[in-house]
Amino acid sequence: MNAPRHYLQFKDFSRAEYDYLFSRTRWIKDRFKRYEPHHPLFDRTLVMIFEKASTRTRLSFEAGMQQLGGSAIYLNTRDSQLGRGEPVEDAAQVISRMSDIVMIRTFEQSIIERFAEYSRVPVVNGLTNEYHPCQILADIFTFIEHRGPIQGKTVAWVGDSNNVCNTWLQAAEVLDFQVRVSTPPGYEVETERAGLYGTGNFVHFDDPMEACRGADLVTTDVWTSMGFEAENEERMRDFADWQVDEDMMKVANPGAVFMHCLPAHRGEEVSAEVIDGPQSVVWDEAENRLHVQKALMEFLLIGKIDEERI
Ligand code: CP
Ligand code: NVA
Repeated sequence: MNAPRHYLQFKDFSRAEYDYLFSRTRWIKDRFKRYEPHHPLFDRTLVMIFEKASTRTRLSFEAGMQQLGGSAIYLNTRDSQLGRGEPVEDAAQVISRMSDIVMIRTFEQSIIERFAEYSRVPVVNGLTNEYHPCQILADIFTFIEHRGPIQGKTVAWVGDSNNVCNTWLQAAEVLDFQVRVSTPPGYEVETERAGLYGTGNFVHFDDPMEACRGADLVTTDVWTSMGFEAENEERMRDFADWQVDEDMMKVANPGAVFMHCLPAHRGEEVSAEVIDGPQSVVWDEAENRLHVQKALMEFLLIGKIDEERI
């Protein structure tokens, strides 16, 4: 049996594969908008394992698999044996014998890596403490839809150097654009944890305004990610000057877009004026999770499809 292909972090795919995925997403989205059925994954089963809460990820994977002709099963830690200490390796062997593809949202990246090692079928990262590759897949597709290719562009990240930030940094290396990150002292990017090659696509700024100056895309995320709730009070104090507001958007390029993976906290990491303002593309960004993940699942299960043949 050939080893399956997994999607555990952004750098698992090449630039050419992303070019394919983005053009395939366009095709899948256009067809979906015309209510034209597309069922390449008829009879296939997706298992979704959640060890953390989710709205978008669950909905987009479950709806996406159904729209592709397959079915999706939801498991969580609370009411499966996963929460009672069954080894990840055993769970991987069993779950992957009964399904065609598995999506996991969990804590440490090492958990999903262990699962993938013992899985007979492709495993997709639906968010770990370290990475959130499906999110950045959707974000970059959204940028392309609004502004064209991302190569050579500048992204400003303001706030916590979390899983979403790390994934932007990997994407910058694979697709060749710049990410300017501004975090409060003590919350800086850990390049090894981010899994960076060190190609020079990442620049740190102490001042968030300077990070945003001339940026084509300004983005942020919650100050306290899932799993770090105990640090919440301290983080509220430490991040107070790292809110994306209208002044930051003013120093960005006039055509800059604002993104947030959601859920958002207005008045904390972003002001209501920005997230609900004219430069915000957050609803397109959320919707595109559905379309990019359909292209991703099709790619992992069937491979590249020559559109001429369909
Ligand atoms: N952005 C995102 O992954 O949202 P959920 O936590 O709702 O899945
Ligand atoms: N950084 C956030 C993203 C939520 C989609 C978290 O991990 O909680």
